[in-house]
Amino acid sequence: MPGTSLALVTGASRGIGAAVARALHPSHRLLLGGRDPGSLTERAAELPGARPWPVDLTDFDALRDATAGIDRLDVLVHSAGVASLSRIEAAEPRMWRENFEVNLVAVAELTRLLLPALRAASGHVVVINSGQGLAARAGWGPYAASKFAVRAFADALRAEEEANGVRVTSIFPGRTDTEMQQAIIAREGKDYSPGDYLKPDSVAKAVLAAVLADPDAHLTELTIRPR
Ligand SMILES: NC(=O)c1ccc[n+]([C@@H]2O[C@H](COP(=O)([O-])OP(=O)(O)OC[C@H]3O[C@@H](n4cnc5c(N)ncnc54)[C@H](OP(=O)(O)O)[C@@H]3O)[C@@H](O)[C@H]2O)c1
Repeated sequence: MPGTSLALVTGASRGIGAAVARALHPSHRLLLGGRDPGSLTERAAELPGARPWPVDLTDFDALRDATAGIDRLDVLVHSAGVASLSRIEAAEPRMWRENFEVNLVAVAELTRLLLPALRAASGHVVVINSGQGLAARAGWGPYAASKFAVRAFADALRAEEEANGVRVTSIFPGRTDTEMQQAIIAREGKDYSPGDYLKPDSVAKAVLAAVLADPDAHLTELTIRPR
């Protein structure tokens, strides 16, 4: 039976976000973020009590409206993300903007809008970063730069909000078996073998460990690599 704590998970329509929602379901009431109401309704049907929260995170007017009724929030998990990959010689401004708009600016704006609700609950912000947010590889520049930036965002947020009782965790997963990874492998021209990658549920367990940590503990950064 879902508990009384409220969690908003972005990117909950599939991949890591959907796994995080499943992991939080026993202990939290859930708002499931994504753009397509149909997919979110399907996810919600699997998680009794969960509610779809459909909004394009880069539509900041819609985001303000969508957050308006939330005055207390225990957990905010930022899993929505895009990975537009290119070598720098071919990366046009559009590609840098696309990565930064979703992976950084939307994360910052959604957090800003919900800060009063997070403070009210002494809440927890979890950012799904990436191994590319720790070390950038050739061909990953625009995505990696956005993930470095959102790491800095999380560090500054933690420093500013710790005194308000808000915890902030960055999760750095390696390659994980999701539609995003399938698209990346197709682009790299390789065969896709799901067993080569982390399971989304394994990343979700790390999120759960951070969220359910005892009140005296603040899990600030977790790196998870496929074995
Ligand atoms: N997969 C990996 O190997 C891997 C590794 C390390 C880190 N990560 C990070 O983990 C996070 C989740 O990745 P994933 O692999 O689960 O990706 P995914 O399967 O491609 O799912 C992406 C999710 O983000 C949502 N989203 C994208 N743009 C959005 C927007 N403008 N507004 C609202 N929602 C939007 C999608 O919703 P729609 O249904 O509306 O499209 C979808 O739910 C990302 O931040 C990614 O960078 C992934």
